Formats: sequence, C-alpha cells, structure tokens
Amino acid sequence: MRIQTINLSKSYTKRAGADVEILKNIRIDIASGQKVAFTGPSGAGKSTLIHILGLMDRPTLGKALIDGKDCFALSDSFLCAMRKENIGFMFQFHYLLSDFTVLENILIPVWNDKKKFAARSQELLEKTGLTHRKNHFPSELSGGEQQRAALARALINSPKIIFADEPTGNLDRETGEAIEELLLNSAAENKATLVLVTHNEELAAKTDVQIKMKDGKIICDKT
Ligand SMILES: Nc1ncnc2c1ncn2[C@@H]1O[C@H](COP(=O)(O)OP(=O)(O)OP(=O)(O)O)[C@@H](O)[C@H]1O
Ligand SMILES: [Mg+2]
Repeated sequence: MRIQTINLSKSYTKRAGADVEILKNIRIDIASGQKVAFTGPSGAGKSTLIHILGLMDRPTLGKALIDGKDCFALSDSFLCAMRKENIGFMFQFHYLLSDFTVLENILIPVWNDKKKFAARSQELLEKTGLTHRKNHFPSELSGGEQQRAALARALINSPKIIFADEPTGNLDRETGEAIEELLLNSAAENKATLVLVTHNEELAAKTDVQIKMKDGKIICDKT
C-alpha cells in the first residue's frame, strides 16, 4: 500500500504554554511494496512520525494518505479497521503485555478472531524460533526473544504495511541479523510496504530509500 503525507506537522503544548513543534511540514511518498528506512539523531521525531503513519497518533496539521485515503479525515472506526487489517507495528520498546504468554501476545492484534489465526501463530512461532517459549511470559525471555515475539505480533495479520521502530536496537549482531532477515523476507513475501526506523547503517542500506531526519524535518532523501 502507498503512504503519502502532505505538510504533516505535530506539536505538543508544554506545561509552560509554548508549543513545541516535533514534526514540521513532512512530505513523503512511499510507493506500495517499497522498503524505506528513516534515520537521524535521537529526538529527531522518527518515532513520532511512524506512530502517526501507523495511525496510532494524530498529526496537529496536514494529511496522511494510505492508498489515497485521507486517513485522519475518516472516523475512528475506519482507523481501527485499517490498523487491524493492513498494519503491523513493531515498537521501539517492544511493549509485550506482561500477564500474557508469548503465544497470547502474538495473538493480541487479532484477539477477537484468534481461533482463525491459530495456524498463522504457530507458523510465526516457528519462524521466530519461539515455539519452545510459547507458554512463557515476557519476563522469562531474553531481550532478543522479546524482540522476536514483538516481530511475530507485528506480522500476525500478514500486514500490507509493516512498521518497525529500531527492530535491531540493543541486540547482538547475530540476533539482529535474524530479525532483519525475517522482516525483509516477510515484507517481500507479502509484497508489503516496509517502513523502518534504525540507527543501524547496514540495515538502512538494505532498503530502497533512506530518509534522514533532524529536528522534525526531512533533511535528505536518498534512493
Ligand atoms: N508526548 C509527548 N509530549 C511532549 N513531547 C514529546 C512527546 N513525545 C515525544 N516528544 C518529543 O518529541 C521529540 C521527538 O521524539 P521521538 O520519540 O519522535 O524521537 P526519535 O527520533 O524517535 O528519537 P530516538 O532515536 O531517541 O528514539 C523529542 O524531543 C521528545 O521529547
Ligand atoms: Mg524513537
């Protein structure tokens, strides 16, 4: 699916009263099936931007279009359905639910239809090497295992857009590479659009387009 933004801006009102602009007039156009990496220093606004593109947060101004649909002009139930059917999101800090097992966490995005996703969840447990951990709780997993569970959860609905915020952050090289491979292969298999945020130059180099951000702006767009 294609993702476009038109003059997208986001600001927060700080306690002192002044607005702080976190994203400034962001214009992007990501073609369907394209793999894109956002890079840039800490605080540049990368997570804020992909949370908006993943329809989990709203811009203050401007538009985000998915396959031409002006998402934030549509109802909350549209946003919800769009997320459920088409979007997979791997968070910067995996956000696994501590009272749910690995298998249950993977099924969270499709909880109301979880029976239909039994085979898919088993397939993802195998792909992520977590079958033997499926009945364990997140606190019983290593960092890399938690990251892999978060990836499986992002892929449960075979999304047409995959967002991954620092998917290989804090992982050793080998585990990081296994996650990278899974992400890139899953996107390719499903002809999904892949939007990554990463500080890892090697991973960024494996995508079609690298977009550098600084101070809430896009400063360089390289294909
Ligand atoms: N809820 C909020 N209220 C106020 N300011 C916020 C809020 N969320 C984020 N910010 C600010 O927005 C800026 C951008 O944050 P963001 O998390 O998007 O950065 P990032 O580029 O993802 O950084 P990192 O590489 O460290 O993850 C930061 O200065 C942060 O303090
Ligand atoms: Mg971030």
